[in-house]
Parts: sequence; C-alpha cells; structure tokens
Amino acid sequence: MSDPVRLEHCHGIAVITVDHPPVNALSQPVRAGLLEAVQTAARDQAVSGIVLACAGRTFIAGADITEFGRPHAEPSLARVLDALEHAGKPVVAALHGTALGGGLELAMCCSHRVAAPGTRVGLPEVKLGLLPGAGGTQRLPRLLGLDAALEAILTGRMLKVEDEAAGVVDAVLEGELTEAAVAWLQGQLAEGLTPRRVRELGVPGAEALPSGHFDAVRAQVVREAPGQVAPLQIVACLEAAATLPFEQGMNVERERFAECMRSPQSRALQHLFFAEREAAKVPDLPRETPTRVIRRVAVIGAGTMGGGIAMCFANAGREVTLIDTSESAVRRGLDVIEGNYRRSVSRGRLDEATAMARLARITPADQLAAVSEADLVIEAVYEDLVLKQRIFAELGERARPDAILATNTSTLDVDAIAAASGAPERVIGLHFFSPANVMRLLEIVRGRETADEVLATCLRLAREIGKVGVVSGVCYGFIGNRMLEGYGREAGLMLLEGAAAERIDGVITDFGLPMGPLAMGDLAGIDVGARVRAERRGAGMLPADPRYGAVHDRLADLGRLGQKTGRGVYRYAEGSRRAQPDPEVTALIASLAEDLGVGQREIDDKEILERCLFPLVNEGLRILEEGIALRASDIDVVWVYGYGFPAWRGGPLHWIEEAVGLPYLLERLRLYATLLGNEYGYWTPAPLLERLVAEGGRLADYRPGSR
Ligand code: CAA
Repeated sequence: MSDPVRLEHCHGIAVITVDHPPVNALSQPVRAGLLEAVQTAARDQAVSGIVLACAGRTFIAGADITEFGRPHAEPSLARVLDALEHAGKPVVAALHGTALGGGLELAMCCSHRVAAPGTRVGLPEVKLGLLPGAGGTQRLPRLLGLDAALEAILTGRMLKVEDEAAGVVDAVLEGELTEAAVAWLQGQLAEGLTPRRVRELGVPGAEALPSGHFDAVRAQVVREAPGQVAPLQIVACLEAAATLPFEQGMNVERERFAECMRSPQSRALQHLFFAEREAAKVPDLPRETPTRVIRRVAVIGAGTMGGGIAMCFANAGREVTLIDTSESAVRRGLDVIEGNYRRSVSRGRLDEATAMARLARITPADQLAAVSEADLVIEAVYEDLVLKQRIFAELGERARPDAILATNTSTLDVDAIAAASGAPERVIGLHFFSPANVMRLLEIVRGRETADEVLATCLRLAREIGKVGVVSGVCYGFIGNRMLEGYGREAGLMLLEGAAAERIDGVITDFGLPMGPLAMGDLAGIDVGARVRAERRGAGMLPADPRYGAVHDRLADLGRLGQKTGRGVYRYAEGSRRAQPDPEVTALIASLAEDLGVGQREIDDKEILERCLFPLVNEGLRILEEGIALRASDIDVVWVYGYGFPAWRGGPLHWIEEAVGLPYLLERLRLYATLLGNEYGYWTPAPLLERLVAEGGRLADYRPGSR
C-alpha cells in the first residue's frame, strides 16, 4: 500500500486514514492507496464496517489541482468512488476541517457521514471554472434538496454541518473523531445498520417544478455571472439531477465537466488559485522571519478610506482607535461606519449582535496622541506628501517604539514618507482599495528600509483580515494605479477622437470588468484625477501633450465632478447612479477636439479594447522588469482583487500571454505607434516584451533580475 493511506483494524472495524499534508488532496498516491485499502477491507470477512478519516488539519480538500492538465494517472477518482459505493458493508466518512470538492464527493459515496463540530463542506469547483465532476451535482441535491444544492454549487460556498449542511451528515460527534466514528459505527451496526447509497434517494424539491424553472435560473445566472462557462454547465447538471435517473444524470455531469476542463476559463482560474497563494511568498524574505502580534490598530483619518480600514480590522476582531482632527470629523466617520453595519444587518448579511460588537471595537479620538497604545498605525489622510510627512514625524515620537507605521498612500513616495518618521525600518505602505472593508486586495509596499519583520508581519496580517496581500516596490502608483494610467489616458484620448463614452465603457464591461474607465472616473470624482494631474504636471511628471487629460480637466473646470455633482462624463438623475449619455458633453468634446486640432472619427470596438488594455499590460511588463512586482502572477492578483479584472480571464498578464499572445501585443503596439504617432512614448513596447518575443520566453516564468 502506498504511504499516504493507512489501514488499521479496531474491533472488527477497518480504519482507513489518509495522511497527505497539507490538505489531503486526492493526488495519485492517495487514490491508489485508498483503492487498495477499500478493496482489502471490503474483502476481509472479519471487517463488519469501515471508517474513513484523515490526519492533519482537514478532511480531503479535493482533487489535487496541480495534477490538472497533466496526463491522467490511474486509478481514477471514479474507480475509488465506485469501490467505496460497492464495498458491500457500511462505510463511514469521518469529516473534520473542510471536506471540499472531490473530498465531499468521496464522502457522499460512503454509506454514512459523521463530522466533528465546526466542520465545513462545499463544492468549490466553480471557483476553478469547473463543476463537481465526481457525482457531486447528482448526489448533493439528493442530500440537501435541489435549491440548496444549486445555490451551494453555483457559489462554491462552504456550509457548516451544524446548520446549512445538516442534511449531508448523519451525526456530529464530540471527542477524538476517529474513535468517536468507530464507536458510532459499532453502535449502529448493533442496531442492524446496512449500507445505503445516496444515488438511490430522491431529489427533494424536484417533484413539482413549474415549467420553465431552469430557464429562469439560467437567465439569472447569465445576469450574475456574464461570460462564464461553468455556472451554466452546473445548471444543466442540476436540471439533469432533477429530471433524469441517476445514471443519466452522471452522464450529463461527465460531459459537462469535460467541457469545463477544456475551457481556457478553468485554466485562468486555476492560475489565480496558485497566484494568490504564491503572492504571499517573497523570495528574499526568510521563511523563519519573526512576526509581531497585532491586537490594537490606530487609523488616522476618518474619511471613506480610514473608515473602511477601521471596519476591516474591527471585523477581524482587532481593537481600533479611529483618529481625526476634530470630534465632529470622527463622529461623522463613525456615523458612516454605523450606517454601513446597519445596512448589512437590514440586508441579512450580519446579525445585529455581531454588527454592534464590531462597532463597539472602534474607539474615536481627536488627538494623534491616541496612537500610543497601537501595535500598528495606519495613516489614511488626504493624498498630500507634506501633510503625510508631518504626521509621520509626529508618529516617530508618539507611537510605541515597536509599533509598525503604515501609510495608505496610493501614489506617493513611501520612502520619502518613511524618512520623515526618523525610523524608516518601521514604515511600510498598506494600500487598501475602496471600499476597504469589501475589496480583497492589499498592496503591501516595501520601502527601501522596511525591516523584514515588518514586511512578514503585514503579509501574515493581510491573511488574518481576509485580504490577499501583494508586495510592491516603491514607484508612482505602485502596481495597480501605475498600470491604470495608460488605460485612463487612452479612454480620454478616444473621447476626444470621437468615441462615445458609453461605447468605450461598454467594450470594457463586455470584456468583463464591472465598470468602464469613464464611469469609474465619474464615481471616483473628476476633481480627484484633475488634482493629481495638476500636481504631476507641476512636477514635470506628465508628457507635454495638450490632449492628455484634456476632456476631464475641462469637465473639472466646469464643476462637472462626476456622480457627486450629478454630472461628469455622464449625467445622473437626482439620487441615481445610473449613467446617462449627455449631449452637452458630446458637444463640449467636439469643440475641444477642434481647439486642439484633433480629428474625430468612428473608432471600432477592437481598437477601443486594445487601446485601453494594451498600454495597461505594457506598463505591467515594465513594472515586472523593474522588480516593482515580484512575478507576473502578482500583477494578475492585483488586477483581479483590486480592480475587478475578470477572474475567469486570469488577470491582465495571464490573459495577454494565453489568450492574446505576446507577439501580437508587440505587433499592435508598433502599429498604434505608426497610426497614432508616438511623440510621447505611449506606444513604445516595454523592453521585456521585445526580449521575450525575440527569445520565445514566457512571461509566467520570468522573474525580475533573471535573463
Ligand atoms: N490541490 C493541490 N494543492 C492544494 C489544494 C488542492 N486541492 N488545496 C490546497 N492546496 C495547497 C495550497 O496551494 C497551499 O500550498 P502552499 O502552502 O504550497 O502555498 C496549501 O495547500 C495550503 O492551502 P491554503 O494556503 O489555501 O490553506 P488554508 O488552510 O488557508 O485553506 C483550504 C485550506 C480551505 C483547503 C484551501 O486550500 C482551499 O480552498 N483549497 C481548494 C479546495 C478546492 O478547490 N477543492 C476542489 C478541487 S477541484 C475538485 O475536487 C474537482 C473534482 O472533484 C475532480
């Protein structure tokens, strides 16, 4: 028998234990070991029942994702499941931790399931662009009912065995799980327990479905997950579960699973699964670097960003001091936070007691001296270098000498801010994305002198507060906002050249981003961008191109500041966020174009997409080559979790490499340089792009500093 699976005997019960760290994934040696153990125990006349349990932190967390895309290695999971289902004696799966994907499917092929308290089960395959391909779509509805199973499989959520997943288990057992499972099985055998197959059960909720039920579900799925393959395939499988005999349902599942597996979307999502975990690894940060415990956090600035950051930490059980310059400013900030929590309660996302406990963790203060107890101080004030430096100078004196000092700046020089503190080794950038309590990305900006311990602590902390941390070096805009620049620039230039705002935004939302660049500018505030441009222009950081930002600067001059004034690039009806095209803006742009000598023309969708996304990707390649990002996949994580780049496209660099091709990108950048002119270097290919294309190298394998 292979190593990761053990077979032992205990008073007539065979105990099979999977021991394959870290998460007992169903790798080939596990499948082989399981098959042999199950067959041996099934044949053994002295064995009256089987308990299947796992060592370590969790029950089987699914198929081994690293095996996807590799040649198939026997035995298949289907063979193992078949052996379990036909063992001819009761088989009890003993679940703990998380029983996910193939792990739950395996448990559902056992005749019974017991679980330790707090165990969660789920079929998260949709998050990998797949569907449960080992009977999950047919068996879960038989245990949970049609609607609950559909919801669970479409969202990939984990469900607790005590409540939502109660139908999956026969008993929740206290005490040492394997022993408890053996005792439970012995007790049940004494009462005449016989094997039972989930496949033989009916599907609750499938009896009297109204006609057109699944068409309505499909329409909803298309609305909620536009462009995605797996969710629609899942609906087809659940429809089969509800309407066809088990075996035919399995055939449908098999076909649909194969289609998902072949889709580029699944490869993109698998890439992101590993990218997210890889992002936490920093090559020159030793694994054994000590980390500090962060219990108390002070947030300076009670505006939208500061408030969101405070909520983030309060939600994660930390004590928070929220500081602003006056009592009324902090009060306003706290009121907004309270409103957010109340909204979550009224929408049923949070219970009242939890919401109020979280709110109670946030203490207001109107003096910077209140930072004195904090383990971590996060500054989230206005984007003004002098102001931030003044605050950091004061923090250097007032914060505890071992406290970590973080700035939430989105563009400014973290090293210049750090220097002002007098203790730059304690300073780091923690760039949250708005709304900070919702968006999962945290850019962790490592300054020139940031201590390893500070970086390691922030990486761990990111995880603890439910964020995906990505390390960035110091540069203007770090990874995400620096890439945003060319994207916004071209959207503005295309407006000037005659493209309609709604067409530009439409191309981007059709591609899969939640919002186009122009609607996003209206939401963020046109004055905000105009102010940044004015500063950068003053500092000689912008090209001397009169067209650059011209439309938005003119709108800002006219007081059309976006959604907040009801007018920006679009018009908004009183109290509405629905963007409507505004003929006034079209006329204004036409006259501006004439003043600037820009000819207007029809711009097709392909050009819109390429002009928005190719400069963004090209800048990403520069960021990678400069070592600002540690790897291409980090850039993908930034864009998916911080900007809503469609996860099923894998992030901008995965997309360009897998779906577009680096040679094509190079060719188009050169073409646009010719067609549109390249006086300001907008279309100059990143040197890394030229090199990779010339050498046939892969972006995914590239590491900064490597050749
Ligand atoms: N296959 C291979 N490796 C896996 C894995 C899997 N299914 N699940 C986790 N890992 C690896 C991670 O990559 C990570 O490796 P590193 O330490 O080298 O980075 C390690 O296990 C620990 O994972 P996490 O850092 O995510 O640990 P966690 O404690 O935060 O979370 C977990 C544990 C909830 C199980 C989480 O890892 C998870 O959600 N895993 C994916 C589960 C999943 O999607 N299962 C379905 C697979 S598809 C399937 O099963 C299809 C089928 O039926 C045929």
